[in-house]
Amino acid sequence: MLAGLRNRNFSARLLQPADELWDRRLGVSTFGHHPGSGGPGEREWYMHYIPSPYRDIFDVLDLASLKEDDIVTDLGCGLGRVVFAASHRGARRAEGVELIPALASQAQTNRTTSRLKDKDIAFFQRNVLDHDLSGTTLIYMFHSFGHQIVAEVLDKARHDRRTVNAARPLRIAYVNPVCDDVIADAGWLRCVGSMPEKRQWLSSALHYRTTLWVSTDC
Ligand SMILES: C[S@@+](CC[C@H](N)C(=O)[O-])C[C@H]1O[C@@H](n2cnc3c(N)ncnc32)[C@H](O)[C@@H]1O
Repeated sequence: MLAGLRNRNFSARLLQPADELWDRRLGVSTFGHHPGSGGPGEREWYMHYIPSPYRDIFDVLDLASLKEDDIVTDLGCGLGRVVFAASHRGARRAEGVELIPALASQAQTNRTTSRLKDKDIAFFQRNVLDHDLSGTTLIYMFHSFGHQIVAEVLDKARHDRRTVNAARPLRIAYVNPVCDDVIADAGWLRCVGSMPEKRQWLSSALHYRTTLWVSTDC
């Protein structure tokens, strides 16, 4: 199985050269795959790990107007690519939350080898529902889980923000927004932008539409 993973990573590296170059530039290794579990309609629908292409991440951060005082939280961060990209782009703090221990541990290893190791970067191996979102100003989600968990994450984000009387709006960038209807129905978030799926030449990476939401409760 390990050999299979290595082969898959090797071909992904070859077929996604821009992402390979960014990994090298940042001193991390974020190519990989881990299967998901559950399925549509189930509460425990946890998606597989594949990383977002760097160019898409940078475009999403631009769409969200990333600022130097942002605290970015990637919910379902895998090996941490989004976290490193957000830190590189100047986020004050970038953190990743990942359910699968092997992925979270590898993300942590990436942090120690990264050229960004002096920046405020943190990884947590836990379910997103156990993560404190009170300080987060920008959530990044790449369709990591199903409708039920999205609804519960939104409730938790709202609750956590109230505990600190959050003064700034929360933005949510949602890549491959399969559960957009849940965000729309939550009643305290407004869709303020979207980015179409973009093709990238010389890359086998998958690309998805993204929606951007902002809280209306402060
Ligand atoms: C599609 S990948 C996205 C990876 C990364 N955010 C990126 O864009 O490069 C989804 C990730 O979410 C993780 N995940 C799924 N459900 C989760 C949960 N309830 N708590 C934490 N992580 C979860 C999966 O293990 C997987 O690594």
